[in-house]
Amino acid sequence: MIARKKLLRPSQSSNRLNAPVAVLAVLAILSLGGHAQAKSGQDQFVRQTARAKAILAQMTLDEKVGQLIQVERAALKDPSDVEKYYLGSVFNGAGSGVAGDIKTLPPWSDVTQAIQTRALSTRLHIPLLYGTDSIHGNNNVPGATIFPHNIGLGATHDPAIVRKLERVSAEETLAVGFNWAFAPCVTVPQDYHWGRTYEGYAQDPALVAKLGGAAVEGLQGKNLANGEAVMACVKHFAADGGTEGGHDQGDAKIDEATMRRVHLPGYVSAIQAGAGTIMPSFSSWNGLKVSANKHLMTDILKKDLGFEGFLISDWNAIDQLGGDYKSQAELSLNAGMDMFMITDKYRLFFDNVKALVTEGKVPQSRIDDAVLRILRVKLAMGLMDKGYSVAPNPKLQAKFGSAEHRQIARQAVRESLVLLKNEKKTLPIAKTIARIHICGRGGDDIGMQCGGWTLSWQGQMGPVPGGTSILDAVKKAVSPGTKVTYSKDGTGAEGATLGIVVVGEIPYSEGPGDRTDLALPQEDKDAIANLKKANIPVVVVLLSGRPMILGDALTQSDAFVAAWLPGTEGAGITDVLFGDYKPTGKLTFPWQRTMEQLPLHYDDKKADPLFAYGYGLTYGK
Ligand code: BGC
Repeated sequence: MIARKKLLRPSQSSNRLNAPVAVLAVLAILSLGGHAQAKSGQDQFVRQTARAKAILAQMTLDEKVGQLIQVERAALKDPSDVEKYYLGSVFNGAGSGVAGDIKTLPPWSDVTQAIQTRALSTRLHIPLLYGTDSIHGNNNVPGATIFPHNIGLGATHDPAIVRKLERVSAEETLAVGFNWAFAPCVTVPQDYHWGRTYEGYAQDPALVAKLGGAAVEGLQGKNLANGEAVMACVKHFAADGGTEGGHDQGDAKIDEATMRRVHLPGYVSAIQAGAGTIMPSFSSWNGLKVSANKHLMTDILKKDLGFEGFLISDWNAIDQLGGDYKSQAELSLNAGMDMFMITDKYRLFFDNVKALVTEGKVPQSRIDDAVLRILRVKLAMGLMDKGYSVAPNPKLQAKFGSAEHRQIARQAVRESLVLLKNEKKTLPIAKTIARIHICGRGGDDIGMQCGGWTLSWQGQMGPVPGGTSILDAVKKAVSPGTKVTYSKDGTGAEGATLGIVVVGEIPYSEGPGDRTDLALPQEDKDAIANLKKANIPVVVVLLSGRPMILGDALTQSDAFVAAWLPGTEGAGITDVLFGDYKPTGKLTFPWQRTMEQLPLHYDDKKADPLFAYGYGLTYGK
């Protein structure tokens, strides 16, 4: 596993004093219109104010400061720190647990129960929110159902399937005892150099808003307090996808009108849908890190947009602000951050914040506001009601990774496919075809289908338990008389009736996925060339987190399918290839011809994309 903290760009260490805040504030007032109604959906937190205040009134400073801290499970220096520091939350980073020895469901749920039990043993019995990156299913736990990444879900244009699969994701998340998901990501990626492009649904902010709202509804369910809700965490606020050059954690150099028009609609709809937590971005807005930006976090998000939940920092995000650790906490707290995601420095953070309050550098009222917000979310979720149980629901455990759940993922996959080319009616393929040859690095690789954020932070090539590869799915789809052959490099297809070559990107996430070149790797080009030598119709299936430079891969193909990062259910692909379902997916990102065309915008009438926003063929008329 790549060590995350080593990957921060040195140039991003800090930058806090150069934002033209006064100018931005004036613009904010001028452009307030349209966001006032965001407040509905937040009432469920406001209603808990009196109860939360009653608890707050009993709390010591230590107990309050503890609520502001979220620690990575593996970074806990001692299990008893959960109660000793009155922690408000624990989370597991991607791969945490899997990389150790917690490989399956019951040991995982034992871990979460033990941690939660410790929290409940504190004087005021305040339970934890246990966070995890369930960003395409409960992707940190082997055996979970893995859904398409957001770029594929965007292509479905279907809020109903997003709502439905996020409900499944919530059930599989709760099965382990996690009650908080760092999802959905409502980023609006502008530049495909960015390694997180696939975490975005679309370039059209209205579609992002629609699908982001549906995702919150799915995760949180109809009733926050019935024990079946996973708290959503909408991220990364804001303009994480608007950074210059598509640099991860970079700087969005945009005016406030653009910020509001392009990057905020997803938050407005998520807030309306009742989202209780939001994660400020690692990135900067006009040179000022969001984690230090009071105008964005407090004035715009909490005041203008009426967000009544709480803000959780990104992974050690305050370390990127200027000054020492104490002044970083001071800056971010005073700017409006409520809870802090921390690995090894949580004890120091605890001491620092207590000192900051005693020294009057962070007002007591700010601490109380943050704790109140956190308590209201916990209360709204029923975590402090009688009958709340730390033991994960056995009914949900029984459904973890089930066939029923995988059917829903399969539906999402088939709806997400975008057919870019189909000459001579190459598709759909007859199930009675005599011999079909499958090849390419992705032909039999579920890890590649899933992409990043799958069992580890970066994801990995190779097996993912419980999934179906494209090769497996083809074998199941064809009739008994069909011969299915396979070679990774595309050789040996001579004599087959048709070949399917699966190419694309190897898994990555975040900064390590930033690219200057989006051409297909030579190995993929070779596999296509090898298959071509057999002189048979060639179907190319592309597994990628963004539009790539297609070149010969497109011209040499008879049919071409953009399958994005579909997850574990390869049968969703064969559902369409063999004609059980017609392709319905449409591009939500315009497709570039060359790297020089980037950034390419969906609403740029003068651009000349290879495939325009909204493009996607189907079968028949
Ligand atoms: C990412 C977040 C994620 C967090 C916790 C960060 O590096 O930016 O999206 O939720 O890690 O794993």
